[in-house]
Amino acid sequence: MSQRTQVGIVGCGPAGLFLAHLLHRAGIESVILENRSREAVESTIRAGVLEHWVTDLMREMGLGARMDREAHIHSGITLQYGPNRFHLDVTELTGGKQVTVYAQHEVLCDLIAGRLADGGTIHFEVTGTAFHDVESEAPRIAFRHKDGTPDELLCDYVVAADGFHGPGRKAIPEAIRQEYNKTYPFGWLGILAEAPISWHELIYARHEDGFALLSTRSPEIQRMYIQCDPADDIANWPDSRIWAELHKRLEIAGNWHLSEGRIFQKGIIPLRSFVCETMRHGRLFLAGDAAHIVPPTGAKGLNLAVADVLVLARALEDAILHHRTERLDAYPATALRRIWKAERFSWMMTTMLHVDEAESPFEHRIRMADLDFLSGSRNAQAAVAENYVGLPFDA
Ligand code: DHB
Repeated sequence: MSQRTQVGIVGCGPAGLFLAHLLHRAGIESVILENRSREAVESTIRAGVLEHWVTDLMREMGLGARMDREAHIHSGITLQYGPNRFHLDVTELTGGKQVTVYAQHEVLCDLIAGRLADGGTIHFEVTGTAFHDVESEAPRIAFRHKDGTPDELLCDYVVAADGFHGPGRKAIPEAIRQEYNKTYPFGWLGILAEAPISWHELIYARHEDGFALLSTRSPEIQRMYIQCDPADDIANWPDSRIWAELHKRLEIAGNWHLSEGRIFQKGIIPLRSFVCETMRHGRLFLAGDAAHIVPPTGAKGLNLAVADVLVLARALEDAILHHRTERLDAYPATALRRIWKAERFSWMMTTMLHVDEAESPFEHRIRMADLDFLSGSRNAQAAVAENYVGLPFDA
């Protein structure tokens, strides 16, 4: 068995889905292969902050209606260190830009529904996905359908939007892969709780016992994170301990109280920074987490994946419709300029806001000075705000 399509995409996450929609708008066919079930894709909890241009893009694609009804627009963030809390007015500092709090899995639900309504093909629960002949002009992706039937996608181009652990990056010979890696000695314990909103915007807090983040999903459901040991077992974190840490790290003596509620989801994730600069090999292109990981502080992961495929879709359009490959040849360099800036911002926010036990007393003082400077400098705040809402595309 085999099927033909112009662009074969592995991965039904933000990169794969936005790419399929952008290609469809340009009149280019694609097929998405995904090893998880549709239910798993649509329910996996990830971050939830969309840069301003991502929401514009969703609207432009006709996929913004539910987001516009249900999402929350934020015009600032609150930062906290020791006993100090300050407001960073993102909208005022960026000439009117805002961010939207709308969970990643809700974006995916809207994009999957939109793809299927457009007659697009997504094969869920495939196994054994393997890229072949990517150095030739006829790359293929072999896979097995859910029922075990072997199949193959014959393509003009193939895109690995299959995440950090997917087969895409590994299809590039290790000897030619340029990779950069940093792991952090801490992880995030994330929860979802049925609790009322405690504060009108997100709070990023550096406490002497570790970072904490207060975020939201809806007026009834809140999302919170605490810095923890990445190797810790979630079984060591009964709800009472989670609430005790959140109260301690987020509350400022005497003037504000965190509302509690039933915790219905919890898990621990490690933090890492990773870039594979070899984002192209023959007719195979990497996009999103397959090529880069940012630590979650600042919520750049989804936004960066969408930025990659905005560049890639335009380049594939030039190559497939107009037989011009300059943009495709430039894809890694173009995408990497934005990727490294997002890596820098995510690393900076992570380093400034987390407590690293291996840090020297000197470095500790520097972190506190970073926050003290940020609290009092409009210029420093403007730089954070510019990155937080999403850098312009020509930057
Ligand atoms: C969320 C996650 C983040 O990493 C962040 O910086 C802000 C919000 C969230 O899941 O809501």
